[in-house]
Amino acid sequence: MFEHDPDRGRAIIDVLNGNSAWRRPIWLMRQAGRYLPEYRKVREEAGSFLDLCFNPELACEVTLQPLRRFDLDAAILFADILLLPMALGQRLEFRKNEGPVLDSIRDAGDLWKLGNADYLKGLEPVFETVSRVKAELPGHVGLIGFCGAPWTVATYMIEGGTSPDRGFSRIAAHRGEQWFKGLIDRLTECSIEYLCRQIDAGAEIVQVFDTWAGDLPDGLCEEYCFEPIRRICHEVKARYPNVSVIGFARGVGPRQADFANKTEVDAVGLEWSYPVRLASEKLQPNVVVQGNVDPLVLMSSTEAIEQATLNVVTALDRQRHIMNLGHGIKPETPIENVEKMIAVVRGFDGRV
Ligand code: CP3
Repeated sequence: MFEHDPDRGRAIIDVLNGNSAWRRPIWLMRQAGRYLPEYRKVREEAGSFLDLCFNPELACEVTLQPLRRFDLDAAILFADILLLPMALGQRLEFRKNEGPVLDSIRDAGDLWKLGNADYLKGLEPVFETVSRVKAELPGHVGLIGFCGAPWTVATYMIEGGTSPDRGFSRIAAHRGEQWFKGLIDRLTECSIEYLCRQIDAGAEIVQVFDTWAGDLPDGLCEEYCFEPIRRICHEVKARYPNVSVIGFARGVGPRQADFANKTEVDAVGLEWSYPVRLASEKLQPNVVVQGNVDPLVLMSSTEAIEQATLNVVTALDRQRHIMNLGHGIKPETPIENVEKMIAVVRGFDGRV
């Protein structure tokens, strides 16, 4: 199914380990998804999004789909950050045009109602998906497992879904509510075990998604974004020294350098608004950077795609860079625009 050349090594792993890589690695956040007709077909066959996530055969299939179409360097497990709250006992539904809907947790009583579910057992199908993908991947492709960061997952658990401003969560953080701290601690501990089980099943890299990190002002950012992610990195790496962690603290802007220094992440995923010149000068000397083309560029013109892509690859040293978008690819993205972006990267690197 795939071309396989074991001698080339895995570029993404070489870059993360500071070794010389045979090419600049590329993967795309949300690379498996609705912009692919073959995904929509399997998704329909599965019934619902959650049925798809908990069906290892089909989840493995959709994980591999983007790799058949595009010349990518990593596969990311097909699952969702909200499977953990579900496994912890929270009701979760994905409604059409509405996104995720959960019971909301707004006090100690609600937190207590979660109970003591054997959450790792509920997540077994996810680990099974990882093993299946691992068995099918060609030698040059890395396998990424993931979880949501405690703050981001907590916002969905508290708000009861996607919300315009994560208001209840931010107020709870400012107040330093005990139940809120308890929720962050619980998510931190469970995320460690969840990632370690993904690693046991075959994940070689893990990414921690803190989509809403930019909500948190200085002190709170340290306490609820940096510190939980530091604990996750520290513990995962203590148990698995060969595994690399990518931290995606979306929206922390000028604090990306602090995020890298304080958490032990091997790479920082950058939002599209982060200036690539600063990434080159301030971040790359200390940490690998990932990103950061605006996903909406992929819905514009060929010229704009070329320009935006070149802007990123010319600024960033390819031995310390993982090419990606600054956030997930949109469902409306034309497939040929994804091909164009990848071709521009390969073409540029081939010339230098
Ligand atoms: O390809 C991949 O990147 C791997 C799979 C993956 C999904 N979600 C699949 C998905 C990953 C890594 C995620 C992470 C995720 N999920 C995040 C963090 C990254 C980010 O995008 O900020 C967040 C916040 C979620 C929560 C979530 N999942 C929301 C808010 C939604 C609804 C909005 C939407 O895009 O539909 C989802 C659904 C979801 N997760 C889909 C997919 C492919 C779409 C489901 C469908 O088929 O209808």
